[in-house]
Amino acid sequence: MLRTRLCNLFGIEFPIIQAGMGVFTSAELVAAVSNAGGLGSLGTGLRPVESLKSALLLRPLPVYASLKEELPRIRQLTNRPFAVNYTLAQPNEEIFNLILEVKPPIISFALGDPGDLVKRAHAAGSLVIHQVGTVQQAKQAAERGVDVIIAQGSESGGFSGSVAALALIPQVVDAVRPIPVVASGGIADGRGLAAALILGAQGINIGTRFLASVEAPISEIWKKAIISANSQDAVKVEVWNDIFPRRAAAYDTVPRAIHTPFIEKWQKSRQAAQRDAERLRAEVISAIQQGKMEEFIPWAGQTVGLVHEVLPAAEILRRIVSEAEEVLENATNTLN
Ligand SMILES: Cc1cc2nc3c(=O)[nH]c(=O)nc-3n(C[C@H](O)[C@H](O)[C@H](O)COP(=O)(O)O)c2cc1C
Repeated sequence: MLRTRLCNLFGIEFPIIQAGMGVFTSAELVAAVSNAGGLGSLGTGLRPVESLKSALLLRPLPVYASLKEELPRIRQLTNRPFAVNYTLAQPNEEIFNLILEVKPPIISFALGDPGDLVKRAHAAGSLVIHQVGTVQQAKQAAERGVDVIIAQGSESGGFSGSVAALALIPQVVDAVRPIPVVASGGIADGRGLAAALILGAQGINIGTRFLASVEAPISEIWKKAIISANSQDAVKVEVWNDIFPRRAAAYDTVPRAIHTPFIEKWQKSRQAAQRDAERLRAEVISAIQQGKMEEFIPWAGQTVGLVHEVLPAAEILRRIVSEAEEVLENATNTLN
């Protein structure tokens, strides 16, 4: 059995976390992963707090369910442990309080110093995961008292720093021992899980592979883009930070997405994008609400090159586990 300390801590069967990818996750995806023995995470980033159905006449119906709809639905769909993700790029007390009210078994943070929120999460009875992109961020998170640290490499989909996973993971393992470290970025199959364990990680956090799952609430076009893209098509989109300026306290990150004509155009005209930021922000937010992110900045990591078909989340998990077991069993055969 592929069990690690992470499994004992969280009460899960396999050391695999489905990343909390903001509004691009749903209670169905979380439950599918948790019911299959992993840890599903509901993302809160970009998610409306209330259902906007009553505002139908004023704006197009958002395709993504609200926080108040999704949080209670998770417990209707699974009685296994799950996580709720809260990003510190744009802190929002109302959202954090809603998360605390649900008392999720696990709360995961990312994109900034979690500070006192760690104590508040612990007081609600939740364990805390924090995602970092540098050794310094990891040490700070350890001082804050987090229970698990995700070392996220720059190969990742969505926002990440500039250090690649292979260099970052063993450094973070050394820096925060005995806190369990979870590897993220560049991992989509059992070989990636095996490699992460050999680097000293206790598990993996996967985004892109689970985006191309049956349950992920993104458009079929975006899923097709993931399965047909090559790794080099998943590029860092610096112009995002011109359109959506980061608050000073947030971690220094740049999102990675599958190349589109929108990215091509604005990456070449970053000063113009800064001047036109308000209009572009409205355009991108409206695209997200209408489920058309794939036309603008469809976040995905370099593992797109490893993802060839859309599968049910439980099947993705099962294949990762059985491949990792096989690879680890045969690992020493390479030596002669
Ligand atoms: C579409 C998308 C949205 C993401 N949104 C979040 C988020 O809201 N919070 C977070 O902690 N991480 C987010 N991430 C990053 C993941 O936590 C994770 O580090 C990353 O997906 C790992 O790399 P991979 O995509 O290659 O598996 C996102 C990733 C993707 C692909």
